[in-house]
Amino acid sequence: MSVDVLLGLQWGDEGKGKIVDVLTPKYKVVARFQGGPNAGHTLEFEGIKHVLHTIPSGIFHKEIENIVGNGVVIDPITLQKEIKALIALNVDVNAHLFISRKAHLIIPTHRLLDAASEAGKGKEKIGSTLRGIGPTYMDKTGRNGLRVGDIEASDFKERYVKLRYKHLELLRQMNYEHTAEADEAIFFEAIEAMRKLNFVDSEHLLNQHIKEKKQILAEGAQGSLLDIDFGSYPFVTSSNTISAGACTGLGIAPGHIGKVYGIFKAYCTRVGSGPFPTELNDETGEAIRKAGNEFGATTGRPRRCGWLDLPALKYTIMINGVTDLIMTKPDVLCGFDIIKVCTAYKIDGKVYDYFPYDIVNSIIEPIYKEVKGWKQDLMPVRAEKDFPVNFKNYISYLEKELEVPISIVSVGPDRKQTIIR
Ligand code: GDP
Ligand code: IMO
Ligand code: MG
Repeated sequence: MSVDVLLGLQWGDEGKGKIVDVLTPKYKVVARFQGGPNAGHTLEFEGIKHVLHTIPSGIFHKEIENIVGNGVVIDPITLQKEIKALIALNVDVNAHLFISRKAHLIIPTHRLLDAASEAGKGKEKIGSTLRGIGPTYMDKTGRNGLRVGDIEASDFKERYVKLRYKHLELLRQMNYEHTAEADEAIFFEAIEAMRKLNFVDSEHLLNQHIKEKKQILAEGAQGSLLDIDFGSYPFVTSSNTISAGACTGLGIAPGHIGKVYGIFKAYCTRVGSGPFPTELNDETGEAIRKAGNEFGATTGRPRRCGWLDLPALKYTIMINGVTDLIMTKPDVLCGFDIIKVCTAYKIDGKVYDYFPYDIVNSIIEPIYKEVKGWKQDLMPVRAEKDFPVNFKNYISYLEKELEVPISIVSVGPDRKQTIIR
């Protein structure tokens, strides 16, 4: 099988960027299949820290083809900023980046609509990254969207004006005050710059690679609990973040999918609103945020922190067909005498050991198992044999509960801080 998928099993920010970068040498192609600049994927190596939003995390490796698939939504302005930052680091972006003609474009008024929608929701707001993701996917499914391929059409400007007009009407109905003109010139500059990139029919390109038995890694964005169908709806993003999204977001048949790598943090975080059964609104949550530097890579917002949630993790392993688990950030838990793991939920006196339909309107009391923590700093560890006993026990316990092997453990943000088991 030619295509492996790597995705987040929680609410995003599990460390996908770092792990894709580590695994890239095994592949010829890295492809993003959904989401857009709401993502912030951090990579660290040789003292450099870099955050990618739209560009696949294989970009720092030479000879790798990086494809932005049809399922992704692209903001030309953000993309240009990203490209400039990479060129400054001597990365030959133009030679190694390929963009699907079928990917949809985020235009400045999409971002305004996102802000207007959030303002209209008041306390019920999703906590969106305000990158225009929801409105752009709405135009896609509403069959009004603008696509990368449209940039090559002679009437691109007219198509843009038509869509913008529709948005301005909506903004007027929503009584949302704005300065819509502000970003327009920058947008068109970014469109001109985009013309220099490689636009491709990525589904053909990818299937040709499959025929030639070239290995492809599909890089997920966000996390499974933010999936539009299976996440904590309506507090979700607007795409299918799960493994099935790799098929629709790249034009790859299910039979070509091999491994499904599911990444999870040794605890849980969430940024934005919505239910979070194991959230810790106390000094323990604060200690995790501080030790894990849990602040959003895209918006800088503090991430909400809590204990590992097994019912949620078992659910996302099931939905994705995870074959290999990857645990990140256990180093953050170093020094805790006791580490808690949620094994079931209690709702209205009834115990649920699975992820129930309604976690949004229910009052959930997590039921915890306590495991012994470890004192030893994991960050310098490079071999499994050097793990402290209590950490080895934590891994064995999770593998027994989750019924999938943990094949990679990450003990720090750097490429080198990775243990392949
Ligand atoms: P992504 O969106 O899934 O790619 O994750 P983010 O980049 O948004 O957030 C993960 C953060 O944790 C980044 O700052 C990474 O550099 C960092 N990170 C990744 N793996 C580890 C790890 O094992 N330990 C520690 N301490 N930090 C890590
Ligand atoms: P990566 O790929 C964490 C969250 C937002 C908000 C909800 C909807 O870095 O893991 P949107 O902008 O999509 O309309 O926001 O989803 N969210 C993320 N949280 N990591 C991400 O991406 C996220 N992308 C969106 O905070 O709650
Ligand atoms: Mg992130």
